[in-house]
Amino acid sequence: MEAVTDLPFRTVCEELGAALTFTEFLSAEALTRGAAKAIGRMWPSLNGRRFAVQIFGREPDALARAAAMAVDVGAAIVDINMGCPAKKVTAGACGSALMREPALAAELVAAVRRTVPAPIPVTVKHRAGWDECSLNAPEFARALVDAGAAMITVHGRTRAQGFSGSARMEPIAAVRAALPREIPVVGNGDVKDVAAYERMKRETGCDAVMIGRGAMGNPWLFRTLAALEQGQPDPGPPALAERRVVWRRHAALVVEHSPEKMRKHELRKTLAWYSRGLFAGSALRQRASTVGDPAALLDMGEAFFAELEATARAGAGDGALATAPADPIAKSVARNNRRDGRRVEAEEPCAVAS
Ligand SMILES: Cc1cc2nc3c(=O)[nH]c(=O)nc-3n(C[C@H](O)[C@H](O)[C@H](O)COP(=O)(O)O)c2cc1C
Repeated sequence: MEAVTDLPFRTVCEELGAALTFTEFLSAEALTRGAAKAIGRMWPSLNGRRFAVQIFGREPDALARAAAMAVDVGAAIVDINMGCPAKKVTAGACGSALMREPALAAELVAAVRRTVPAPIPVTVKHRAGWDECSLNAPEFARALVDAGAAMITVHGRTRAQGFSGSARMEPIAAVRAALPREIPVVGNGDVKDVAAYERMKRETGCDAVMIGRGAMGNPWLFRTLAALEQGQPDPGPPALAERRVVWRRHAALVVEHSPEKMRKHELRKTLAWYSRGLFAGSALRQRASTVGDPAALLDMGEAFFAELEATARAGAGDGALATAPADPIAKSVARNNRRDGRRVEAEEPCAVAS
């Protein structure tokens, strides 16, 4: 996820049980012209763990060369983004816009497949369709698999939905039904807890679930789901002390790996994520927004957790320190419902998109 799945966040997720993480989507054009920022984001996972590099573009040659760069940095999977709804991406007819050009999309997969060594899977993530009038996910996925895609991830929203409304299960189920059994289908959209995970698996028959926003500030979701898959008891949400340990780990990874000019921003983000739903979290977030020194931000986090732990020890207990539970998906959907108010399905003429 752009500006989300950097190395520090991916590492924390992996350490808590995520089976596979993906880099932010990276423009093939930027990678092949040597843009340092894009190249720097192809961060290999630590300790040799498998990771996927996600790329996007619409020029077969550039996409193939970008894929070769991903292989050079050690990607275990090269994933092509055909799902991004952002105007800056679809304006260039990339991302989800490719769902309107299935022949070109298949050509892109074939070009990347020809370049990437055979043991490395080439995979695609796409949406339910461009809009309500072109829900073409099953045919689209089949064309991609015929061209060499080894796995398909489907986000159960259309491009027109953006991130508003809710993800639907039917398009994912339809893709599962349309593809040969040996091609894994990954379901995606709005999974933030065990119930949503189980519903996604039950109603779509998908082989795996991809989680985005639900892990932001709650990487323990992976631990819970890994335990579930192994038939073990749910370790449950983290105690306060553990929350502090994971925040500290995430912050240390930011200090070690994030580019210097991003450091204060990323540290503020860790404070925001791990203090969400905790008593006095919003005051912390406000104070952090006025501080730029990384060391001071780290001290601020330590002091915040120390104070909470002292209060818990004094008799309140961990549970009494929680305010409203954090729900990054509800927040994101509410924000996008507002922002996309003029663009929701019902108001968008079905222009039988060409
Ligand atoms: C801030 C943000 C950045 C995203 N960046 C990417 C991206 O780079 N590549 C991608 O495939 N999807 C990206 N997505 C979409 C998510 O991967 C996912 O499909 C979507 O949020 C629905 O799943 P979720 O409810 O689990 O988050 C992004 C979403 C958000 C909110």
